[in-house]
Amino acid sequence: MYQYRPISLTLFAVAAVLLLSSCDSTPPAAEVSFSKQIQPILTQHCLKCHDEKGAGTIASGLKLSGYEALLQGTKFGPVIKPGDSLSSTLIILVEGRANPSINMPHGNQPPLSDEQIRTLRQWIDQGARNN
Ligand code: HEC
Repeated sequence: MYQYRPISLTLFAVAAVLLLSSCDSTPPAAEVSFSKQIQPILTQHCLKCHDEKGAGTIASGLKLSGYEALLQGTKFGPVIKPGDSLSSTLIILVEGRANPSINMPHGNQPPLSDEQIRTLRQWIDQGARNN
């Protein structure tokens, strides 16, 4: 009995190291809230052209005044693909990956910050929920 103790201790240590290393050192991204984080970005940067009577709403049909409207998209279809921020039209436009003449926000408006774009992308990748 006595001489097996170091071995079981070693096994315990190995198991502990394996367990610890299976935990990713970066914590999972916190859940992004539509009402607390996403809508405020849209309200601040997009709503003046994408409210009920805005130029962007009239031209494209896209209203950015709330969750339902955002998910509905333009008269041509959705601009958000839940779970897939990379190919979501809205992200393509705010990241400036499209033709510069259609980047959003339009005109001489300041672009979204990297942090705001990251938040939008996380929310879409987390399923674009009405949370
Ligand atoms: C200064 C006015 C203005 C602002 C601010 C603005 N938009 Fe637009 N948006 C437009 C106009 C006008 C269109 C119609 C299409 C076009 O002219 O490119 C449009 C169209 C769009 C479209 C549809 C593009 C397509 O072809 O399917 C998306 C998506 C969009 N806007 C997202 C946004 C987002 C997100 C913001 C805020 C970050 C924003 N817009 C801010 C004016 C604006």
